[in-house]
Amino acid sequence: MKTVQAGEHELAVFDEGEGHTILLVHGFPLDHSMWRPLLPALVGPYRVIAPDLPGFGQSPPPRNGLTMTGYAQLLLDLLDELELTQPLTFVGLSMGGYIGWEFWQLAGSRVHSLIQCDTRAAGDDSEISVKRHELAAYVLQHGVDELPGNMLPRLLAESTRQSNPELVTDLTEMILRSTREGVAAASRAMANRQDSTHRLSRIQVPALLVCGAEDSITPVSEMHQIESAMPEARLLVVPEAGHMAPMENPAAVNEAITEFLLEVTRQ
Ligand code: MLT
Repeated sequence: MKTVQAGEHELAVFDEGEGHTILLVHGFPLDHSMWRPLLPALVGPYRVIAPDLPGFGQSPPPRNGLTMTGYAQLLLDLLDELELTQPLTFVGLSMGGYIGWEFWQLAGSRVHSLIQCDTRAAGDDSEISVKRHELAAYVLQHGVDELPGNMLPRLLAESTRQSNPELVTDLTEMILRSTREGVAAASRAMANRQDSTHRLSRIQVPALLVCGAEDSITPVSEMHQIESAMPEARLLVVPEAGHMAPMENPAAVNEAITEFLLEVTRQ
């Protein structure tokens, strides 16, 4: 990991490999290490950039609040700092995907292709939005210790929780590395984010959509709607996986991503 100053944010960043750039953006409340199962196949043929967003993993907490656009802007600042100006493949999971829509809105010409995993394009309804603000206030006061217990049943399919205790431990430790400020800022940014549904038909880059068959946070039905709205998108429904499809069934996700990248970078 290296440390990069991206605008006002200091970010811990995984940066390895050479070639076409792949930017991996993690979900909430996680860090770049959620992409570990994909790295052996990607590093080598590609340059892989995977930051910890502010207040997650090894990145210090944000000093101020953030918006979804703010997260996209700090990724652009990071790329500028690394002098990466060529169009890249943006890969986001869930909150990383919400940031992906904003990244495209800010800098569509820098998006060569898009891989959106277990994410939504719609904004939150008022009930979810209120819960996110409550969570932000709660963690600022009490810390993040209760987050793994609350979130793991929703992040992983029941079958994964039974069969893969190492993954449960890995995710628990990852969540506990989050800072209360990082969790609060991300939670509020998600609550306040815009609905991106109306943008989808204009996103005319090759896109791979990935969704765990048992994802209860960002269900397959919603990702089918995204697929229908995006002219160049195709959806992979991943068996034996919930919301964390790239970690729960890495073989299936790796194969799809590797094939997609080979195809789109050959063009
Ligand atoms: C995530 O995985 O980033 C979150 O579960 C997204 C969400 O809560 O909407």
